[in-house]
Amino acid sequence: MIKELAIKGLHASVAGKSILKGVDLVVRRGEIHALMGPNGSGKSTLSSVIMGNPGYTVDEGDILADGKSILSLEPEERAKLGLFLSFQYPLEVPGVTVSNFLRTAYGHLHEPISPVKFAGLLKKELSALHMKADVADRYLNDGFSGGEKKRAEMLQMALLKPSIAILDETDSGLDVDALKIVSESANRLAKESGTGILLITHYQRILKYVKPDRVHVFVNGRIVNSGGPELAEKLESRGYAEYSSKLGLVE
Ligand SMILES: Nc1ncnc2c1ncn2[C@@H]1O[C@H](COP(=O)(O)OP(=O)(O)OP(=O)(O)O)[C@@H](O)[C@H]1O
Ligand SMILES: [Mg+2]
Repeated sequence: MIKELAIKGLHASVAGKSILKGVDLVVRRGEIHALMGPNGSGKSTLSSVIMGNPGYTVDEGDILADGKSILSLEPEERAKLGLFLSFQYPLEVPGVTVSNFLRTAYGHLHEPISPVKFAGLLKKELSALHMKADVADRYLNDGFSGGEKKRAEMLQMALLKPSIAILDETDSGLDVDALKIVSESANRLAKESGTGILLITHYQRILKYVKPDRVHVFVNGRIVNSGGPELAEKLESRGYAEYSSKLGLVE
């Protein structure tokens, strides 16, 4: 399990189009970072590139886990280092139950675990996330509501206890109660398991419950400003116009 994820001067493209234009960011275990930026600025692209999605090409720069480049590693190998991504749009996997999927994933990251022992763990985490017990026997995300999918992602994270987790808009589409439950889960993981969290979000409201150590403003493929939680409040009231105009993206 790694202690630090460092992104250095990262440039990446998809379908021949340059999207990431020099990203520098370090996330250590136990730290919570919030990444905020306009639609289409490249936030999800950054998470895909970190996880090794083969659809994206790294053109320049590096991604280091504890100082070692992970660019040549397959997505599964990156996951085994303890990197975790909660997708903006979680995939539906008919035919694979939540319980089987999670037990297999757990066995890959930690030691293999018996179905009985795992059922106990799962039950505990399901109740912490206020999820119904029968979710365990349903097919992963199949017919889940938007909010249920997001909770299923958090369930996965709570069980796997990754070193560094990227939560891509896990707060979008959650009602107020679910938002609190999901936030508590993220806080507990950071505090108790030392998981470092990169929280991609559009809304300051989640930052009421999850206190970030650093807030980064992401515009046009790179981080253009970083600061404390107060930066998120400023963005909420002023938007990204000042950054976009400085970069010459708008009049
Ligand atoms: N597979 C792809 N094929 C073509 N273009 C892509 C692909 N993936 C991303 N892009 C483009 O890259 C740009 C950045 O997309 P990305 O999803 O990273 O933005 P984002 O910051 O996550 O936006 P949002 O806030 O809306 O989620 C967009 O213009 C998008 O259309
Ligand atoms: Mg996105």
